[in-house]
Order: sequence, then structure tokens, then C-alpha cells
Amino acid sequence: MTIDSHAHLEMEAFDGDREAVIGRAAAAGLTAIITVGTTLPDCEKAVSLAGLYPLVHAAVGIHPHEVKGIDAGTYDALRILAGQAKVVAIGEIGLDFFYDLSPREIQLRRFAEQLDLADELDLPVIIHDREAHAETLAILRQRKGRLRGVLHCFSGDPAMARECIALGFHLSVAGPVTYRKADQLRAVAREIPAERLLIETDAPYLAPRPYRGKRNEPAYVVETARCLAEIRGMAVGELERMTEHNARRLFGLGGKKST
Ligand code: NI
Repeated sequence: MTIDSHAHLEMEAFDGDREAVIGRAAAAGLTAIITVGTTLPDCEKAVSLAGLYPLVHAAVGIHPHEVKGIDAGTYDALRILAGQAKVVAIGEIGLDFFYDLSPREIQLRRFAEQLDLADELDLPVIIHDREAHAETLAILRQRKGRLRGVLHCFSGDPAMARECIALGFHLSVAGPVTYRKADQLRAVAREIPAERLLIETDAPYLAPRPYRGKRNEPAYVVETARCLAEIRGMAVGELERMTEHNARRLFGLGGKKST
């Protein structure tokens, strides 16, 4: 029993077999999947999937790749979506200075605005940070004590991990922890305090071994759980229960299996 705290079931990659994908996740023992919007149309799709499938919950936000397209109506639309049933977070928001698909200055401004939206709505945030560690930390520091959430697919070093934990954030580990060359990530994953650790797939991206290179899906989160359990010297069932509990607490999913 565990939760995939970050997937993109609304993406086109799942249009052909979404129901089967969700069925395999349930069969693998997942009790919830958080599907995370990245554009306004995808956020709408994520919210409607949450309405259709008991296992699915949604997050709404504009991904750093897409923030160059935000206009006056975007925040009104996000506010309305955030008020729908089973919307549990604002995300995926953040900074991506690797691809730089939106100008950096705009990324910084839109990230701050979406954090303020989460603060206003009292929702946790799901943060994407790629090659923008210092800038991400600076923005989170300014809001110390006002936000809760997760750095998804965490890729920082141990010092950054410690600071994020001190700021009250959770860290989520994805499939790359299973890759041969990921020694630094494994070192970080070993040290994350038990109550702040989440796991995710980021499906359809970043499939864990032995599926690397294929389309990822929520059922594969068990491979990441297995790897993390080994790194942390605990039973896989225990790791799964712990990360499930953490995700339920952070996203307010309630104590029981969704029905
Ligand atoms: Ni993602």
C-alpha cells in the first residue's frame, strides 16, 4: 500500500489506455495517485479525472515551461479549479533553468505568484526545481513558515535537502534513485527524515529500473519503493506504509483507503 504522489495521468501519453493504467496501479497496491496539471487545459483534465476515478486526486498549477503563457484570466481559472472536489495542492510550479522554456525573469515572478496563491488558498505546493536550486531556496526562505509542500523529484545535494527540511518541506524521490549513476541521490535519500519522505513516479517520465526508457506509470512506483527500502535498511512494506502516511497527512487525504 502506497501513494504515487506525482504523476501526469492527464497527459496525452495515457489517452489510449488510462483506465488500464489506473487498474494496474490499484492491482499493485496503490491507494491514491496525485495527478499534477502543468497547463490550464491539463489542469482541467486532471480535475475531471479525479472526479471519474476514486484512486485519483488532482493538483493544479502552471509548470515553469508554460508560465510564459499566463495571462490575466489564468489565476481566476486556477482559483476555481482549486476549489473543486479532490484538488489537494497547487502544482506543478517552480523553476527550470535547464530547459529555460520560459524566460527566467518570468519564471521567478510566476513561481512567486503561484506560491502566494497556495498561501491564500491554504493548500500545499508541489515544486519543480531543475538547475535552479539557489533561486528556489531563496524564494522559499522568504516565505518561511507560511507554506507546506514537497520538492518533487528532488535533485539537490545533502545541504539543500537539510535546508528544505528545516523550512518544513517534504522531499519526494522518483525513479532516478534506481539508476546506476545516482550515488548522490541515494546518499540524500538515505538521510531524509522518515516523516518527510514521499515517493512518486512522475509518469509518463523517468521510469525506474527495470523499465528505464519506457513510458512510466504509477504501478512502477513499487520499484522505487523497493530501492529506497534497501537504501534505508527497512522492509519494503514498512517504507510503503510510511510514505503513504506522509502523503495522506501532507495532502489531507484522510486516514482510509479512498473509496
Ligand atoms: Ni512532473
